Amino acid sequence: MIRVFENLQNLSQAAAAIFVEQAQQALAKGRFSVALSGGETPRQTYELLARSPYMDEVPWHIVHFFWGDERWVPLSDPRSNARMVREVLLDHIPVPDDQIHPMYRSGMSAENGANAYDHELRQFFYGERQLFDLVFLGLGKNGHTASLFPHTPVLNNRQDWVDAVCLEDQHLERVTLTPEAINRSAQVVFLVNGPSKAEVLHQVLEGPSQPDNLPAQLIQPVSNELFWLVDEAAAAKLSNATQYDTSALR
Ligand code: 6PG
Repeated sequence: MIRVFENLQNLSQAAAAIFVEQAQQALAKGRFSVALSGGETPRQTYELLARSPYMDEVPWHIVHFFWGDERWVPLSDPRSNARMVREVLLDHIPVPDDQIHPMYRSGMSAENGANAYDHELRQFFYGERQLFDLVFLGLGKNGHTASLFPHTPVLNNRQDWVDAVCLEDQHLERVTLTPEAINRSAQVVFLVNGPSKAEVLHQVLEGPSQPDNLPAQLIQPVSNELFWLVDEAAAAKLSNATQYDTSALR
């Protein structure tokens, strides 16, 4: 399902509404697990969730925050995804600390940190058929999502739920959920905005299957609950043949 929005603000409001709706639906089972995306696009969504009306509608006592990926840097580092979420959301809402599950662990290598997070997830989801209730993802201009970058070994990791990624060009190690973990989640929502994403969005959604070049194509949740929230600029190269809902534009 692709929904096109006039701008990032409307897109972010829809994303925040999905979070509220899914969290409320999870009340019956007593916990709501969400894996957050890094990058800039989801920032407005997180800011909205930290303010009325959205903040007042979320049953925060059942919410567990995880991350889809993390740069392997301390939480104080401006590149940290957890730092951004803490600044714009976590410091403003009443979620118990033991329900916030950052990926980064100081004093550990990315590889050992990935193993530790994998273990934490297997404990948290023990006996569950599905993993996260909701996963937010972004889309990089090169077709990456989370830290699933083109031509990296993690794309073929079918065993683990979490893996370490070494990006030579960025001189940075990252830890990421694997496609296996994302695809076992109940609902996956991509947030994509801006003209710079128009070409890659067209390639991912309408081009040939080439997941090693466009890892976002690996995201095919077993639940089939896959949503693309995109703004008009990012949707500019989508053909008319692609069925998308523009009701949000009105
Ligand atoms: C990260 C993100 C990454 C991001 C995309 C899009 O850690 O960098 O998880 O996958 O979602 O790069 O980033 P923007 O939203 O900033 O375009």
